[in-house]
Amino acid sequence: MEFIAASAFGLEGIVKQELLDLGFDAKAEQGGARFQTDLTGACKANLFLACADRVLLILGERKVSSFEELFEFVLSIPFEQHFPKDANFPVNGNCVRSQLMSVRDCQSITKKAIVERLKRKYKVNWFPETGDVYPVTITIHRDIARLTLDTSGDALNKRGYRTWVGEAPLRETLAAAMVRLSGWMPEHLFYDPCCGTGTLLIEAAFLAQNRAPGLHRSFIMEQWQHTDQAACHKLREEAKALYIKDAPLQIAGSDINPEALSLCKKHLQQAGLASKITVQQMDLRDVRLHESGVYFVTNPPYGERIGDQKKAAKIAQSLGELFRSHEGARLCAITADHGFERHARQRATQRRRLYNGRLECEFLVMESRPQIIQ
Ligand SMILES: C[S@@+](CC[C@H](N)C(=O)[O-])C[C@H]1O[C@@H](n2cnc3c(N)ncnc32)[C@H](O)[C@@H]1O
Repeated sequence: MEFIAASAFGLEGIVKQELLDLGFDAKAEQGGARFQTDLTGACKANLFLACADRVLLILGERKVSSFEELFEFVLSIPFEQHFPKDANFPVNGNCVRSQLMSVRDCQSITKKAIVERLKRKYKVNWFPETGDVYPVTITIHRDIARLTLDTSGDALNKRGYRTWVGEAPLRETLAAAMVRLSGWMPEHLFYDPCCGTGTLLIEAAFLAQNRAPGLHRSFIMEQWQHTDQAACHKLREEAKALYIKDAPLQIAGSDINPEALSLCKKHLQQAGLASKITVQQMDLRDVRLHESGVYFVTNPPYGERIGDQKKAAKIAQSLGELFRSHEGARLCAITADHGFERHARQRATQRRRLYNGRLECEFLVMESRPQIIQ
C-alpha cells in the first residue's frame, strides 16, 4: 500500500527524514512524503511522526479532464477491499489549476461512483453509512486526480495537550519542526522568550523525552475492520516503553502577557510537564540567563497589521540584543518580517522558507561565532 504523510509546505524534507528514521523508505514531494507500508505501518507513522499533518492511504491516481473520466477512475478503485457494507464514507474535495474546478461537483461525482462500485460488489441498493468512518478525499491538481483515505482522523497536530488557543498559536507540527531545525540537543538550555501558550516548550520536551506525539490520542484507522488491532496495541506499548518520563529537561520560557502564560501553564499541566518546565511573566528585554550555549527558539509577533510593525521591529531588535548578551547562544526565530535581520542587527547563518498556515515565513538561525583565543 502506498501512503503519503501530508505536511505543510516547507516541511516535506523533515517529514521524509522522520519516515526514514522510523525505518520506511520515503520520498519527499510537494505537500508531504510518500512511503509504502501496510495499515500497521500507517499506525506507526501516525503515532511517531511529529511534523506531519495526516497519514493518507493513496487509493488511486489518474489524469482526468472530464466528469466522466473522474467517475470511471473512482469506479475502478476496489473500495470493497477497505469499506465494510455499513461504512460511513464522507468525501472531501480540493481542486487546483485543473479543468475540473468545481469542488462540489467533484465531491458528488466521487461519492456517486463509490456508491455505484459498492452496489455492484455488495449487491445492495442502499448504504446506511452507520458504521465506522472512512474519510475520503478527492484532490485534483493540474488535472491529476488523487483519491486518498485518511488514516489519522483528527489532524496529527492535535496531540491532546492543547485545548485552549491563544492569540496567535503556533501549530504543534510546525513547532516540532522548528525544534528539529534549531539543532537543539537536550544537554543545552532551550528557552522561548515569547513562549505564548507554550507550544515550542512542549514540543521540545516531547523530543527530549523521546515521547511519541500520538501516544495520548487515537487514530481513526484503529477502528477499521482490516486494522490489526493487536499489532497497533503492541506499537503503543513500544512507544510507552521508549518514552523517558524522567528525562532531565532544561527547558524554560517567558512571555509578557499574563493571559498567554496562564494558558501555557494549563497546557504544560495537560502535557504532564507542569513540574518540569518553568515559565514566568517577563518582558524579553529583562531575560538574563546564567547558562552559556542557550538555544533561544521563538515565534515572536510578526507585525502583519500596519501599526504592529514598529512593535515587531522593536521585538526583533530586543531578540538580537538578547542573543548577543548570552555567550555561545543561538537564536532561532520564525518570522514573516523581511526586515528581521536588519532590526535584530544580526545576520542569519541559516535560513529556510516555511509556512505558518498560509503565511510565508522564514526560519532564521543566528549563531555565535566561536571565539578565537590568540
Ligand atoms: C506569535 S505569539 C507566540 C505564540 C506561541 N508560539 C504559542 O504557541 O502560543 C508571540 C508572543 O510574544 C509575546 N510578546 C510580545 N512582546 C513581548 C515582549 N516584549 N516580551 C516577551 N513576550 C512578548 C506575546 O505576548 C505573544 O504571546
